[in-house]
Amino acid sequence: MAFSAAELDFLLADCAAGSPLINDATTYQLTKKSLVQDLSHLRKAHGEHARALVELVQARRAGKLLENWLMDSESVQQATPPVVAAWRAEVLKAAGVEAAVDVTCSIGTELHALANAGLRALGGDLDHQRLRMARFNVPEVPVVRMDALRPAFAGDLKSGALKSGVVVADPARRNSSGRITKLDDLQPPLPELMDCYDKLVVKCAPGIDYSEFDGHVEVVSVDGGVKETCLYSPAILGRGRRAVVMGASSVKETVTSDEPETDRVGGVGRYIVDPDGAIVRAGLVRQYAARHGLWQLDPHIAYLTGDELPAGVRGFEVVEEVPLKKARPALVGLGAKSVEILVRGVDVDPDELRKKWKLKKGNAGGNGGASGAGAADTAYSVVVTRIGEGGAAKAVAFICRARRSSRG
Ligand SMILES: C[S@@+](CC[C@H](N)C(=O)[O-])C[C@H]1O[C@@H](n2cnc3c(N)ncnc32)[C@H](O)[C@@H]1O
Repeated sequence: MAFSAAELDFLLADCAAGSPLINDATTYQLTKKSLVQDLSHLRKAHGEHARALVELVQARRAGKLLENWLMDSESVQQATPPVVAAWRAEVLKAAGVEAAVDVTCSIGTELHALANAGLRALGGDLDHQRLRMARFNVPEVPVVRMDALRPAFAGDLKSGALKSGVVVADPARRNSSGRITKLDDLQPPLPELMDCYDKLVVKCAPGIDYSEFDGHVEVVSVDGGVKETCLYSPAILGRGRRAVVMGASSVKETVTSDEPETDRVGGVGRYIVDPDGAIVRAGLVRQYAARHGLWQLDPHIAYLTGDELPAGVRGFEVVEEVPLKKARPALVGLGAKSVEILVRGVDVDPDELRKKWKLKKGNAGGNGGASGAGAADTAYSVVVTRIGEGGAAKAVAFICRARRSSRG
């Protein structure tokens, strides 16, 4: 829950004094089990400010942002992962951008990255308390209270200190009633933001339909989870798409729409590869396939196949290909006891399939299930997909060894 002005006064005063009270609060466990008792101790010591101490310590423990920052759990949840903010700042710098105004700066995650990349940065937000935290967290960057849709500095982007600058925005996708799905309801609304600025970089939900957007689209994943789709006005990066696949602390691979693509479709090779979600959402599966010598199992489905795995990619080594209806007997024959099920293009629920297959009981005597086999020997991945279209469409199950990655 957000801090009140009085709570933030208290926390800022404590920080100025070397954080003795915050440090004391960090010695408490603050787990579900201990919270009531911990809060009661903290209340005796700090009265009405105990809640703020707990909120701060729990938000810091999420481990997402720098550990000495001021933050509450909601602002942490909304914050761009620092590795992604750093990437965006470097992209802007490489595009020759010298200054950036983050008009929804919240507690300063993007400002920190922009300043670190050497850009002149300025922050704005409607929320007073978040701005106070941003001032504390990123003291080197000026921040002001403003409405992103009524920018006092808009003229400065054409001349003066912010010339050759861009506006960065990250509209809130949640309000008190839950997740916001309509672009008009984002805070601030996306269409209005786009009308306001010529050089806008706007961070959007991963699943946004960007097909009508005339500019550069970047889909970013971290550790396999797609985090955002970012839209850059054409005046910044021209037109095109890029998938950015990141690990916890650095970029692993990028794929762009400028690269050659393959239209090769064919039977299954030694492995099946499920491309990273950023590549799929950026519509760059064929470019990725061309780069790694892979091909599609079906032109409309994002699964790829090939005889070698791209370096560092977890793939599925194919054991057997069967019609979906024959998957259970095939798994029983192999002595499978546990399965990971992936489905694309077929209307079945993996959990329902798993229940229906009932693999744990009565199938240990199959060909591959010799007694004494370890868990790894009885674990399989099943990739279920559709091959072909219309009347010729077949639901196929590829039974694979449990996922493994190539060295990379
Ligand atoms: C998703 S958060 C931004 C998070 C930020 N990019 C980060 O990485 O920490 C959205 C922010 O937009 C602010 N906001 C909402 N409507 C606004 C408006 N019209 N003008 C300025 N800020 C606004 C909210 O107060 C909130 O701090």
